[in-house]
Amino acid sequence: MVAFQRSWGLAAALAIALVIVVSGDALAQSGQPTSVNPTASSVKEGQLLDALKPPGSGPSAVTGRVSIPDTKSSVLIQPAGRDWRQIRQETLPFYGAIAILGMLAALVIFYLIRGRIAIDGGPSGRTILRFASADRFAHWLTASTFILLALSGLNLTFGRKLLLPLIGPEAFTALSQAGKFVHNYGSFAFALGVVLMILLWLKDNIPSGADLAWFSKGGGLIGSDHPPAGRFNGGQKVIFWVVVIGGVALSITGYSLMFPFVFTDIAGLQEANMLHGLIAVGMVAVILAHIYIGSVGMEGAFDAMGKGEVDLNWAKQHHALWVEKTEMKGKGAATPAE
Ligand code: HEM
Repeated sequence: MVAFQRSWGLAAALAIALVIVVSGDALAQSGQPTSVNPTASSVKEGQLLDALKPPGSGPSAVTGRVSIPDTKSSVLIQPAGRDWRQIRQETLPFYGAIAILGMLAALVIFYLIRGRIAIDGGPSGRTILRFASADRFAHWLTASTFILLALSGLNLTFGRKLLLPLIGPEAFTALSQAGKFVHNYGSFAFALGVVLMILLWLKDNIPSGADLAWFSKGGGLIGSDHPPAGRFNGGQKVIFWVVVIGGVALSITGYSLMFPFVFTDIAGLQEANMLHGLIAVGMVAVILAHIYIGSVGMEGAFDAMGKGEVDLNWAKQHHALWVEKTEMKGKGAATPAE
């Protein structure tokens, strides 16, 4: 008898459950709108997302209500953050790795084919002043801080995947914290370096007809012809403008991230972060080519930024128009090398 009563009880409970499930399903299928209460504890993320209108036609976030002064904390779901995370964690590392590894591979191939670009006829033994100490200060300030910013920035993009497994969590944490410090404070010196470069070199980096001729002849990098160039050739002008435009863009996006919500809102911050990363990896790739040609890639080039003076034959080979002009002015007259 007891067993009979138990099975009746079970059957009744099953029947009630079935009625609830079927009626809920019918309600959903009838297309009746279900209202969403974002503060209800049982609300599902999916329901909240469904409640968001398509982009452009309504709010871009699900917000609740807060009584504290910081109203930003009322944002519960902000779907654009998913696109940001996707770019930050996948797109940026992917294209960043292609740009940097691709450039390194291209430089190795270029070196194997072209070798070190030599001074035709060898050094003359006479030198000419190429960069005064103010020029060299601006260059090395920008260069050293760029390298520190690049390394600490690349750690944010690739460190977790590449460094963390190698050095372990404690060392990685210490390194990343130090890197963040260097990145934040080093940025001011980098920005100053870019401003100095603009003040010192802008007038010699205005594009001219000679640049077109320089590019059309492969800039002397391809083949043995050395098209005449002024103080900076077409390729160097490209580097200059990449540093100036890229440096300004990195500063604007970087400072808006360093002082969040001061200059822009959450959408602006996400865009700034994506742009900052993409511009930075692009610049790293370009600067790798610059470092190559300014050091191992070309005989005599490093002296320009090392000592400030270059061999006269090097100068005539790569900057014939500039040598002519300098000699006419009687400035930087060639002196015998030590
Ligand atoms: C160890 C790294 C670097 C080396 C060895 C190096 C070397 C040089 C040399 C030798 C020059 C003078 C070329 C000439 O006389 O015609 C130069 C110029 C210049 N450097 Fe660097 N550089 C380095 C890093 C950087 C970095 C990181 C930046 C910027 C972020 C930079 C920006 C420039 C600019 C704008 C110029 C003038 C345009 C040009 O010559 O391309 N350099 N560099």
